[in-house]
Amino acid sequence: MKIGMLTGGGDCPGLNAVIRAIVYKGVLHYQDSIYGIYGGWKGLLDGGRIAPLLLEDVVNILNLGGTILKTSRTNPFKHRNGIATVKKNIEKYELDAVIAVGGEDTLGVADKLYEEGVKIIGVPKTIDNDVSGTDQTFGFDTAVNIATEAIDRLRSTAESHNRVIVVEVMGRHSGWIAVKSGIAGGAHLILVPEFPIDAGDVVSRIVKRHACGEQYSVVVVAEGATLTSESSEAKVVTFDHEKDEFGHIRLGGIAHILSTIIRDKTGYDCRTVTLGHIQRGGTPSAFDRVLSTQYGIHAIDLVHQGDFGKMVALRGTKIVSTPLIEAMKEVKTIDREFYEIAEVFFG
Ligand code: F6P
Repeated sequence: MKIGMLTGGGDCPGLNAVIRAIVYKGVLHYQDSIYGIYGGWKGLLDGGRIAPLLLEDVVNILNLGGTILKTSRTNPFKHRNGIATVKKNIEKYELDAVIAVGGEDTLGVADKLYEEGVKIIGVPKTIDNDVSGTDQTFGFDTAVNIATEAIDRLRSTAESHNRVIVVEVMGRHSGWIAVKSGIAGGAHLILVPEFPIDAGDVVSRIVKRHACGEQYSVVVVAEGATLTSESSEAKVVTFDHEKDEFGHIRLGGIAHILSTIIRDKTGYDCRTVTLGHIQRGGTPSAFDRVLSTQYGIHAIDLVHQGDFGKMVALRGTKIVSTPLIEAMKEVKTIDREFYEIAEVFFG
């Protein structure tokens, strides 16, 4: 078969491991011709790039961060004649099927294209772990490890200087990275979008902790967290007002606001650290390399079974397939039970 493959949306560690697995199994087991579609859905619009992917192109990419296929946040449904062009190019290159590796946006486009008759399989990726239908997306484990290491390091310098350090992590509207790295890194307070905390409550918890003898604190805050207050409505903090083609605004800045509140109310010496794209770059963890490899192998198997309109997913320890529409049902957020584990350590 002739199979096209693309990576869309924000990059994450493990994308190259998926690409490698698909090319290996496709070429060696099924005698497929695999084509790289460059720059996400942009690669299937006019002027896009599609080129063969050979074993020699992927032989050394297992531990490489980023994506050799490049990526973009292009939404073909927002382009004039976008869908007709995508379909025309799939025909022009005689692709029998497309494997789309991405988060809810990329998989959402994949699902709509499936309804339009395109033979398509999805693979769920994102550091945010917010895709429903799967227990975990690849990229998330690496991001949690990176954030955990950062929190460990910040704890020791915060302690030396008797400071409060507020660390902002990514995750968009879900608190997975914050809560997992916060628990693993021994954070003293973790703020997530799912369970907003009153700013006054944050301050009094820190004051209480310091009154009990500790003279430093590390607070982890998810970029999508909000601070409730009696006087104003809770709002996410955004970097600017521009929306991408999927309608997303860039989040960021809550750590600075929170640290200013803490400093003004307590007089404690406060610092802010925003981890940003460090969480997305670089080599994948061993867990993500294995999960990506399992996802890639399962995806190409689904293509050969003709089981289109599906996404590969992790359920417990098994890789399964689930309708692409599952990925779009809702943003997968953390549940109360899990957050309560973190709360035990808030004091
Ligand atoms: O979805 C992954 C993610 O890293 C989010 O956590 C973050 O809000 C966003 O992408 C950042 O996007 P960009 O790379 O466009 O700044």
